[in-house]
Order: sequence, then structure tokens, then C-alpha cells
Amino acid sequence: MLMSNLERPTPRPGVMAIHAYVPGKSSAPGVANVYKLSSNETPLGPSPRAVEAYREVAGHLADYPDGGAADLREAIGRAFGLDPDRIVCGAGSDDLLNLLARAYLADGDEAIHTTHGFLVYPIATLASGAKPVVAAETNYTADVDAILAAVTARTRIVFLANPNNPTGTYLPFHEVKRLRSGLPPRVLLVLDAAYAEYVRRNDYEAGIELVATSENVVMCRTFSKIYGLAALRLGWMYGPAHVVDAVNRVRGPFNVSAPASAAGIAAIADTAHVERSVAHNETWRAWLTAEIGKLGLDVTPSAANFILIHFPHSKGRTAAEADKALTTRGVILRQVGAYGLPNALRMSIGSEEANRLAVATLAEFMGRSAVP
Ligand SMILES: Cc1ncc(COP(=O)(O)O)c(C=O)c1O
Repeated sequence: MLMSNLERPTPRPGVMAIHAYVPGKSSAPGVANVYKLSSNETPLGPSPRAVEAYREVAGHLADYPDGGAADLREAIGRAFGLDPDRIVCGAGSDDLLNLLARAYLADGDEAIHTTHGFLVYPIATLASGAKPVVAAETNYTADVDAILAAVTARTRIVFLANPNNPTGTYLPFHEVKRLRSGLPPRVLLVLDAAYAEYVRRNDYEAGIELVATSENVVMCRTFSKIYGLAALRLGWMYGPAHVVDAVNRVRGPFNVSAPASAAGIAAIADTAHVERSVAHNETWRAWLTAEIGKLGLDVTPSAANFILIHFPHSKGRTAAEADKALTTRGVILRQVGAYGLPNALRMSIGSEEANRLAVATLAEFMGRSAVP
């Protein structure tokens, strides 16, 4: 006999309000050479040393990993000059963002993120029964005054992606410090620095100093971007001892796999590979920004490994039509309508071949002659 709706199990409040995360497309039907520029993956791939370390674990797949990821935390601690006891590792930084929400948000609480903030923030907030509160941005950039104005007695977390995805914009360190100073001490400031390794700006800091000197700031990092290990799901968090303690209580006991841990340790040691990735990104981000700008399209200045391209509203020139034209050539960008940006596309910085093909296709789309 069928149960009535009232009798069947129901998810906690908030869950059915979630718009499930839709990842970037990865295929272009009927096109042989596909250039996936929709998920901010690195065109240089991981360090060969990380791949080798990953393979070596194949002989031990029956064994549980070290639940505390001690070797990985030590390697991260050495690389960044941090106390390993203040680090928690996770299955991607998504895992850590969700764990922070689970540990600090209850039904009716509020968590703030900015207008075009990373979509995992409202998802993690709603999944914890709390209410996402949106703070307006200025010029596609987080606005400290707007965030502070959005704080209420119910606010428990402020999520700030710095640089932000999908806009690529960042807040200078003095602004992040001003944000921290303006928050009540009971509010946890989550600095999501997934793209920190790519930033080459004198006034930028990922947040290490602020975490070290505060009781209410954590910083999340990932191995998915510059380290090229997105498939393995590996991230880490640096925080005050009491936050680390809380997160360790709610995380899965083996949330980081042994192959991921081994690859992460090797990746972090290969600083030459990271430097090559930064250099590639600097060169091609500048080139793409300039060349796409010449086509009459606005590109938001980016500090990360992707750019946000704005398209006109006029028929034949829209973001949706550009997306179609690019996909026909095998160039896959990210539609960002879900981020409130229906007239824009986000493009990850790709290989030279991918970048040149993207610009040539956009030139044709805009009715301009192709760039050499
Ligand atoms: C701002 C930001 N934070 C976190 C993540 C999640 O990264 P991962 O879960 O792969 O570590 C991403 C990935 O796109 C991101 O853009």
C-alpha cells in the first residue's frame, strides 16, 4: 500500500529549497578535439611525481587510510609554515565547507555570501537548515560594507571566496582585515582561497596571518586547481584549535583516501611544477583578457585561473549563442546563469592551443577577423 505524503520520510527544512550544483559541461557532441575550459582545471595537469605517488598506493588498496591524514598535514605544515595540528584535510574543499556549515549552523541561523559567490555556500547553508543571506557586490567584487550591513543576531558564518569564482575578483588583505574587525566575534569568517596559488598581487594574502591571530577565521584550500588533482578530491583547512576540534568531530573518519593523500604530499613538494603553472596562467590570462577585450567584449579583471566574459544582449551576440558557437568548435566554457550572470561565460585559462582556438572562434562570432 502506498504511504500518503504526510507519512513518508521528509528531508530537514531547507533541503528541498536547494538547487543541486550543476558542474560545467565536459562534452561537445560530434567534435573530435574537445577543450574543456569549464571547471577551472589546470591545462598543465598534475606533477608527474604526484601521479607516481598515486600509482604506488595501488598495492595497498585493501588498507584503510590514516584517518587523521597525519603525513599530509605535516607536508602542508612544512610547505606553508603551519602547525599541522591546526590543519584538517577533506575530500576536496567542498567537504570542508560543508563540514563547517554542519558544525556551526543550526535551523534558523544565517550565513552570508556575496551576490556572485561560489554556489556551494548557499547549498551547504540550506543543507544545515540555515538561511543564506546575500550581500551585494560592487563591480563584481565583494563589498565589505555590504557584508557587514547584512550581519544580524542570527549570523553565524560569512563565506568569502578570495579570489571569487566565477568573477575572478579579489579583496586586498587590508579589506579582509577590515571585514574581520567589523564582525562580531561569534561569527566565523570562512576565507575560501581555492585559487590563492594563482594570485600575484602585492596586496593579496590568502589568510594565514589572519587565522593565526584570530579565534573566528578559517582558511580553506584545495588540491583541485593549481595542483591538478581534482579527480582525487583533496582539500585542507587551517583554523583556530577550537574550530579544528569541532570539524574533526563531524567529519567522516576516513574522509581523505590514501591515494589522494600520497599524491597531495608529492604535489606540494614539486614547487617547480607550481611555478610553471603560475607562469603559464599569467601569460595566457593577460593575452586572453587583451584579445577578447579587442573584440568588444568586457572581461572582468581576474586574479585567478579563469576569466569572466560579458556578452551583449543583442540577438546573434548573446552568451548563450556564443556558447553554442564555441561548443561547435569543441571549446567548452561555463554558463554562469546559476550565478546570476546569464549574459556572461566563464573561461578557464587553457593550453595555448585551446586559448587561441577560443579567441579565433569568438572573433568569428563577433564578426571580427581572427587574431593571428
Ligand atoms: C571558490 C571555490 N571554492 C571551492 C571549490 C571546490 O574545490 P574542491 O572541492 O575541488 O576542492 C571551488 C571549485 O570550483 C571553488 O571555485
